[in-house]
Amino acid sequence: METEHITAMVTGGSSGLGEATVRKIVRNGGRALIVDQDVEKGKALADELGVNALFMKTDVTAVQEVESALDEGVKTFGSINVVVNCAGIVTGEKVLGRDGPHDLSSFSKIIEVNLIGTFNVIRLAAERMQSNEPNDEGERGVMINTASIAAFDGQIGQAAYSASKSGVAGMTLPISRELARYGIRVMTIAPGLFETPMFQKLPPEARSALGNMTPFPQRLGRPYEFAQLVLSVIENAMLNGEVIRLDGAIRMQPK
Ligand SMILES: NC(=O)c1ccc[n+]([C@@H]2O[C@H](COP(=O)([O-])OP(=O)(O)OC[C@H]3O[C@@H](n4cnc5c(N)ncnc54)[C@H](O)[C@@H]3O)[C@@H](O)[C@H]2O)c1
Repeated sequence: METEHITAMVTGGSSGLGEATVRKIVRNGGRALIVDQDVEKGKALADELGVNALFMKTDVTAVQEVESALDEGVKTFGSINVVVNCAGIVTGEKVLGRDGPHDLSSFSKIIEVNLIGTFNVIRLAAERMQSNEPNDEGERGVMINTASIAAFDGQIGQAAYSASKSGVAGMTLPISRELARYGIRVMTIAPGLFETPMFQKLPPEARSALGNMTPFPQRLGRPYEFAQLVLSVIENAMLNGEVIRLDGAIRMQPK
């Protein structure tokens, strides 16, 4: 799909990897529907980018809110042919902590937002994408999800986060197989350590120590590098049903 034809719904688009993706798509001549719970940052970004960006306050786990965002996006831009799922949360908690076993509600919450929220957006967007006009390749849409390297080398304390992200990685192939008949591709990116607001909450020493663990380049990833890969995936029609690590060759240790 060519960049100027992109009309993308970007969840988690107010911040970090999602924000960088929104900026890249609009800068390359596409349009972006920013879907996020953070109203202040989302509105400011849409205002800054002008007519090719629209913000909708949306919780990705809420069926009605995702429906409304998609409807508004289709009304404003004519269709949605790309979905980039970046909305996500992270916590750390041990199975056997100092105060007792892992809280079950915090485990469920991570699964609900990261895995069920991603699936909710995929299923509702697919329903609309199936009636898009196909391009010359027969392509009606592209969906790109965000997992994490924690899906494969999760550390101690990441049981919930890793479970949610390996769920995202695991559903990539079956969904891409199913949606192939509609000309919709499904891909997942598994980022390593990226310098985003999620990460900036850590003290500077911890951030640079984590950056140094990455073989090359020996630093944290920059959000625009994630956005670059998103654009490559959108443009390259042969990429389908796969999870791509974007991590400078880091393999995380147990802790
Ligand atoms: N930063 C990293 O190093 C890193 C590494 C691997 C994976 N990831 C994943 O990348 C994605 C983006 O992370 P980021 O680093 O840009 O974080 P971020 O905190 O900067 O952005 C996440 C955005 O998601 C939004 N969000 C959270 N819950 C939501 C919900 N229920 N509905 C709608 N929006 C919601 C937040 O408001 C926020 O704007 C996440 O899925 C994260 O797990 C990040």
